[in-house]
Amino acid sequence: MYTISLTPDMQASALVLGCMRLTRLTGSELDLHLKTALELGINFFDHADIYGGNGTCERHFGQWLQANPSLRSQMLIQSKCGIVQNEARQNVAFDFSYGHILKSVENSLQNLGIEQLDVLLLHRPDALFEPEEVAAAFDELFASGKVRAFGVSNMHSRQIELLQSATSHKLAANQLQFGPAHTGMIDHAIRMNTTLPLAEDLDSATLDYCRLHGMTIQAWSPFQSGFIAGTYMDNPDYPELNAALEEVGRKYGITKNGAVAAWIARHPAKMQIIAGTMNTQRLREIAAGMDIPLTREDWYRIYASEGRDLP
Ligand SMILES: NC(=O)c1ccc[n+]([C@@H]2O[C@H](COP(=O)([O-])OP(=O)(O)OC[C@H]3O[C@@H](n4cnc5c(N)ncnc54)[C@H](OP(=O)(O)O)[C@@H]3O)[C@@H](O)[C@H]2O)c1
Repeated sequence: MYTISLTPDMQASALVLGCMRLTRLTGSELDLHLKTALELGINFFDHADIYGGNGTCERHFGQWLQANPSLRSQMLIQSKCGIVQNEARQNVAFDFSYGHILKSVENSLQNLGIEQLDVLLLHRPDALFEPEEVAAAFDELFASGKVRAFGVSNMHSRQIELLQSATSHKLAANQLQFGPAHTGMIDHAIRMNTTLPLAEDLDSATLDYCRLHGMTIQAWSPFQSGFIAGTYMDNPDYPELNAALEEVGRKYGITKNGAVAAWIARHPAKMQIIAGTMNTQRLREIAAGMDIPLTREDWYRIYASEGRDLP
């Protein structure tokens, strides 16, 4: 598994295990899944304070860490804060205030049973955010050794610029949804200077901004098309995409799961891919695609399926 320099002193695996669905696994299943991930070269684990509801996924992971303390040093642990949910787990506010950020990190550290988060991301933009207040929270967390590095999630280029202007901590990562059925970040670039559908830049050229500023994009939900519709894999609503993944995968001796990983990994932005599978065999298949260099023709064959014809 190749790694990506998230910061000058942090080599993170390109494939990340997303921990949002962790509560599906029993303790022994989780043990197998996490040890398999480490064997595959995955050293990066993505959490959020809200996953599973009120820190439940972090606590499940923390219990495993407590039973396997020697493995902590092989892992980089990231968590996110800034979304406020009610008891029914509906989002009721976004909160990037100083107090909320500090409290959330305190809770995450306690849930995970660790002293330090390797990375903290702001989960989803708070329209009321004050860059200086966020910067003060970052300074405090860094000075106390509770967080090594900082980043954002679901932020476009202008929002990142605004935050970066207030903080001396270089924002290391931007977590964004991306995959062969969720391609908004690249659609407009391919259709630049046309009036075709998908030509409109909806995200202020965030992909190019991140590349220009050395920010790693972390592709979330790479096997989903939208937010809650479910996976497109083996889904009859996505016949062309499944056919293209099958065909390209067969050519390289990998499964469709591997072909998705290879497709994202082929992008020169050098994204991290956050796989959320809790199926250990599927995780192996995804990992097998990471080092496969697709040709341009194969990459565009997958991209152009499902009606995204090239101009
Ligand atoms: N920043 C954000 O706003 C944000 C939002 C959402 C998620 N995330 C992060 O991204 C991570 C990944 O998200 P995700 O879990 O939605 O990612 P995903 O890897 O796209 O989807 C995983 C889900 O799809 C199913 N799946 C995957 N491949 C499949 C296949 N070939 N056939 C059938 N089912 C398949 C998995 O089932 P099995 O478990 O059975 O394989 C699992 O339920 C999360 O864990 C979280 O860390 C971030």
